[in-house]
Amino acid sequence: MDLFEAMGGAPTSRRFKPDQVPRETLLRVLDRARFAPSGGNRQGWRVVVVQDAERRAALRDLYLPRWEAYMQETGGARVLAEPDSFDPSRVRMARRADEYAKGLGDVPLHLVVGVRIEDVLATDAQLPRQSIVGGASVYPFVQNVLLGLRAEGLGAALTTLLVPAEEQVRQLLEIPQEIALAAHIGVGYRADPWPARLARRRVAEFAFAERYGQSLTAPGESASR
Ligand SMILES: Cc1cc2nc3c(=O)[nH]c(=O)nc-3n(C[C@H](O)[C@H](O)[C@H](O)COP(=O)(O)O)c2cc1C
Repeated sequence: MDLFEAMGGAPTSRRFKPDQVPRETLLRVLDRARFAPSGGNRQGWRVVVVQDAERRAALRDLYLPRWEAYMQETGGARVLAEPDSFDPSRVRMARRADEYAKGLGDVPLHLVVGVRIEDVLATDAQLPRQSIVGGASVYPFVQNVLLGLRAEGLGAALTTLLVPAEEQVRQLLEIPQEIALAAHIGVGYRADPWPARLARRRVAEFAFAERYGQSLTAPGESASR
């Protein structure tokens, strides 16, 4: 699969066939993803691959209460309870994500991604706002994994709701204290067809020329991008 095709066609997959992911396939993906950039080339990412049914169920048990709390806090629970009052695409996504959370134990392969805290340098830590930069040494790797999985015909769902359960996840997977949890990726062969296009903003809405807000695209061009 062409790189640009993968970049434009790797949606979140939340329903999977029961088929196992071959170890060889996963190793190929990780062997490409490892070329991701990181601050100082410290390569602090660490991945625990979980396929054991009991461990997958334990991860679901940690994920589910956080998912339910998130749905309460963000109004998602109302979307599920009163579907007729909401946009059908929102209802569909809420249902799929809810189904994913409840069935997490059946997702064939789980990647628990962490990063060695001492390999992360948050250059914005002193700023009077939420720090963003720390993640920049692990999420390029995560995105490489997602693209690699797509190139192998695998679907994946990136979530971060397990991170607040970091301590329990550490205990479950024997992850040392020096590793911070960054993401969970559920992986498998997608049960649904791949969508023709993903719902994303056009380039003109987020990229600017020289000054913030100034159009980058030529008149007429923005409609297609
Ligand atoms: C940081 C992050 C956290 C996310 N958390 C969740 C989650 O908790 N549950 C879920 O079902 N999807 C989660 N997603 C997936 C997003 O919902 C998805 O990327 C977005 O809706 C676009 O969907 P699409 O790629 O299928 O078009 C997360 C994605 C990111 C990048």
